[in-house]
This record gives sequence, structure tokens and C-alpha cells, in this order.
Amino acid sequence: MTRSYEIIDHEFDVVVVGAGGAGLRAGFGCAEKGLKTAILSKVFPTRSHTVAAQGGIAAALSNMGDDSWQYHMYDTVKGGDWLGDQDAIEYMCREAIPAVIELEHYGVPFSRNMAGKIYQRPFGGMTTEFGEGKPAQRTCAAADRTGHAILHTLYTQALKHKAQFFIEYFALDLIMSDDGVCLGVMAWDLDTGILHRFRAHETILATGGYGRTYFSCTSAHTCTGDGNAMVLRAGLPLQDMEFIQFHPTGIYGAGCLITEGVRGEGGYLTNSEGERFMERYAPSAKDLASRDVVSRSMTIEIREGRGVGPERDHIYLNLMHLEPEVIMERLPGIAESSRIFAGVDVTKEPIPVIPTAHYNMGGIPTNYQAQVIRPTKKDPNAIVPGLMAIGEAACVSVHGANRLGSNSLLDIVVFGRAAAITAAKTVTAGESHKPLSGDDGSKAIDRLDHYRYAKGGTSTSDLRLKMQKTMQEHAAVFRTGEVLEEGVTKINKCFAEKVDLGIKDRSMIFNTDLVEVLELDNLMSQAVVAMHSAANREESRGAHAREDFPDRDDKKWMKHTIVYIDDKGKTRFEYRPVSMKTLTDEVNPFPPKKRVY
Ligand code: FUM
Repeated sequence: MTRSYEIIDHEFDVVVVGAGGAGLRAGFGCAEKGLKTAILSKVFPTRSHTVAAQGGIAAALSNMGDDSWQYHMYDTVKGGDWLGDQDAIEYMCREAIPAVIELEHYGVPFSRNMAGKIYQRPFGGMTTEFGEGKPAQRTCAAADRTGHAILHTLYTQALKHKAQFFIEYFALDLIMSDDGVCLGVMAWDLDTGILHRFRAHETILATGGYGRTYFSCTSAHTCTGDGNAMVLRAGLPLQDMEFIQFHPTGIYGAGCLITEGVRGEGGYLTNSEGERFMERYAPSAKDLASRDVVSRSMTIEIREGRGVGPERDHIYLNLMHLEPEVIMERLPGIAESSRIFAGVDVTKEPIPVIPTAHYNMGGIPTNYQAQVIRPTKKDPNAIVPGLMAIGEAACVSVHGANRLGSNSLLDIVVFGRAAAITAAKTVTAGESHKPLSGDDGSKAIDRLDHYRYAKGGTSTSDLRLKMQKTMQEHAAVFRTGEVLEEGVTKINKCFAEKVDLGIKDRSMIFNTDLVEVLELDNLMSQAVVAMHSAANREESRGAHAREDFPDRDDKKWMKHTIVYIDDKGKTRFEYRPVSMKTLTDEVNPFPPKKRVY
């Protein structure tokens, strides 16, 4: 029996859940358009994970050489191994140019080239002339702290436009009507312990990825995919969850990110023989091939005994040949994190690195207007009224099977802005809210109460570790049917062990014991759907590299995986077609071809 809780009610035009770059851009965009907007965040906005983004944001500004958004679009389609939706990719690459100029005008302190324009560096998979020309210098950078600079600027914009913040509010669940409309969200104010019911005509999920399903990842501890889990509990699906990106250069042992910008500035990888091995795997792009290709090449070197260190289990990233002034001006952040986390002076020694879980290409399916999709038999693009998703939580899908570096900061600002444009069309400011039909938030309270009084013998940290190790071992850079099936059995067992979870703190005020168990519950459903989706997809595409199915199979698998899960952990699959259409006649669709770098 659920105990009774005090609830405070709120009515807004729009509620945004999450205050990273995507949530802030959407939130102030809505406020700017006259909509009464709330932004909820479980951490202080400038602590959101966007702050950790380093290398930059892609846009074909042509500040450092010839470029075009069509080239950027081609690279993104190819980088995603033809699983990305080309209408959405066209939208993102075209809008990149005004979106970055807009950021500049908001005050983002971008680094500058000699002409005083925004400095742009090369990044993996970014080329010119549809892959035939020179590497593109397309990634706009604020040294190697671009996410930090963007996040702080967007936060000041949100304050300026008077979006209303609810900080350290942990979102619990969506409020859905009987006929499948999203009516708002339930949240727990960690500071006072009081529950809040937010009604909204549009609820925008900007809750980030689920990197913490892995043992070693570049994501913050807060990256528990809370929005994705709320969507699953609402009976809605997630899309393409098998596609998980490993960043080639996480610091060995610590997992912290060392930006791809290091290789963009001339850094390179070597094995135990001192060989620049990427020349063998990607003769043209070398160290700047796309991330999935570089991560696989590093893993092969280690497997074949050419790793470095006493256990030959990692690789060196070299930048000692760069001028110290270049490092201090363009890469100060990674010089500092290498010193702190690897004990390395980057001007004298290489950085020990290893592919590390970094980004989730999959998430909540949306169209390029940020509206959440629940496919039906009649309409694969049917939308869920009242619900939007943006940023890493969403699968638009612009990244397909593998995201190109610096397309993530781009995604958050372009689709954050798109969400605000959509909300301004679908919502009339001040419109009254219909009475609740169906759930009134009670389901969210039942779940909270269940975990608050959970008395089982399994601790949150033990079960979380078991889940993270299972993901690390069984849904890794290379996969086989056998290893994945074993992973499915193990992750199902982890899911089942949730019934025995127990916590000690029964209070409501800043109860981190309760926060962690709720986050684990969120992570677990995503780990299950990711592992099941990986076992289900019998081909290799982008970041999903099956050794037992080494080729891409466009005939059978050029389609999005749609996955549902029930409360027993049972999954169900459907599929959606990949959009091969462009939005305008300024570019033609790019037909699939073999992907070489
Ligand atoms: O390497 C990096 O700076 C990461 C960028 C990204 O994931 O887009």
C-alpha cells in the first residue's frame, strides 16, 4: 500500500526535463516565444554533462577552407553507415551554420583564427567534396572546453528570457492520458522532499544518454537515461539501442575523455612497436577515420599483442611533437586531465588511452521537429501528442549507426531550437489544461514509495556493478552471437534481481540512497533493451560490429530497431524504415555504398 504524499501542482505551457545544452536551448527558445516554460534539472544546470564536451561543434562555416553543408551531410550519412534519416540529417547540417552564428552572437567565446573568425579544427570523418577532397576543418572550437563555453552561455540566455528553473528536481515519470497523450511529468524536489505535479501542453525530454550502463565510460555519473526509462515505463518504445559509441581515446583506467581534437591538431596513435598503425586500417583518413573504425583498429592491435603497458592492454596517444604553445592554447583541458588522471606531462610523454563507452546513438524516436514517434501499423511516423525529445535522449535519427565527433553539440542546439519552434506552433500561450484522464501521477508515486521502503538484501551498488560489468563484457566494441546471448542471460538475471533491492535511508530530503536506486532502475531497463537489440541485429553496421556477421546487410537490416519492454523485462521488436528522402532539392539523397576511410 502506497503511503500518502503531499503534492504541489503546477501548470505550464511547456515543461523541459533536463538543463544540459539541449534542454536550455529548447527552454529559453520556448520562453522567448512567450510560452510559460519550466526547466527541471536533477543537478544545477551548469553541472549538466554538456559541460564535459571538449573538441567542438560542427558547422560548414568555411572559415578555414572550402566547405559546404552538403559535404557535411554526406559525411554524416556515411559516418552513420546509412542508418541515419536523411531528411533529419539535411535539416541538421543546413541549420548548423545559422545555429553556430547564433551561439557566437549569444556570446560563446569561440577560439579565433588569424582573420578573427571562429577557429575550426579537423575532426574524424569530416571531409570535403563528398569524401573525395581534403579533410574538412569544420569543428568550431573554444579551445578544448567547447561544451563548457556553450552550456554557460545558454544558461545565461535562459535566465535572460525568464524560463522558470526547478533545480535539483528529479523527474519520476510522465503523466499519460488514457488515449496516449502526454500531460506532464511528476518530479521530486530533493531539497524539500515534496512531490510536484507539472502539467504541460508539451513535455520536452532532454535527459541525456545512458552511458552509466557501462563500467568504463566518459559520461558523468548523472547520465542514467532517466527520460528514456520514463518513456519505456509509459509503454512507448526506444529506437536503435544497440548502437553504442566507444570513443577511441578515454584515459586508460580512469575513463575520462581525451578529445578527438588532439588528433585533429596532429596527434597520433601508436602501438607497442611505435607504429602509427592507423595508416594500415584507414590509409586515407588515418587517425581521423570515424570513431568506430579507430576503436576497432585499436582493439585489434591490443588483441594481436601490440598493446602498450605492462599488460599490453592499451594504446599510446602522442602529441609531444606539437609546439607547447599550441597545446596550451588549443588543448589546455586535456593537458590538465592527463596530468591529474594519468600522471602524464603531454609535452614529454604519450597519453595511455583505450576505447571507452561515450555516446548512445539510440534513444527516444523523434522526427526532425523533435516530436516523439510511436509507430503504428498504418503510420511508422505517428507522433505522441504532447511529448518531445531532444539531445542524446533522442534518436532523430541523425547519427545513424555511428555519430561523427562534434555532431553532438550540434544536435543539441539545432534540435533544442527545433523543439521550441514546434512548441510555438502546437501550443497557445496560457491555454487551459484539461482535467486529468487516466494516470494522475499515482503510478510515479507507487514506484517511488516501493523503492523508498525496499527492504531486500541486494545493495544498489552491487547490482549496478554487476549490470555495468555485463554491459562492458558482452556489448563491447566487437560482438558475437554467443557473447551477446550470454549477455542477454546475464542482463535478464540482473533485471530480475531488482526485486531484492534494499535501501537504508527512508527520508525524503536529499535521499541519495533513494535517488541511486531509482537511477539504477532507469539504467536497468535500458541495459536490457540495448543488449537484446544487439543480439537481435545480425549484421555489422557502424558501432555495432558483429564478428559472426561481419558485413552490412542493407537488404535485411537497413531499418531502425523499435524496442518495447514490459515490467517483467520482456522485450518486443518492431522496425521502422530509414528515411532516404531529402527535404529540399538543394541536395540529392546519398545512396548506400561501401564505407571506407
Ligand atoms: O572528442 C571529443 O571532443 C568529443 C566530441 C564529441 O563526442 O562530439
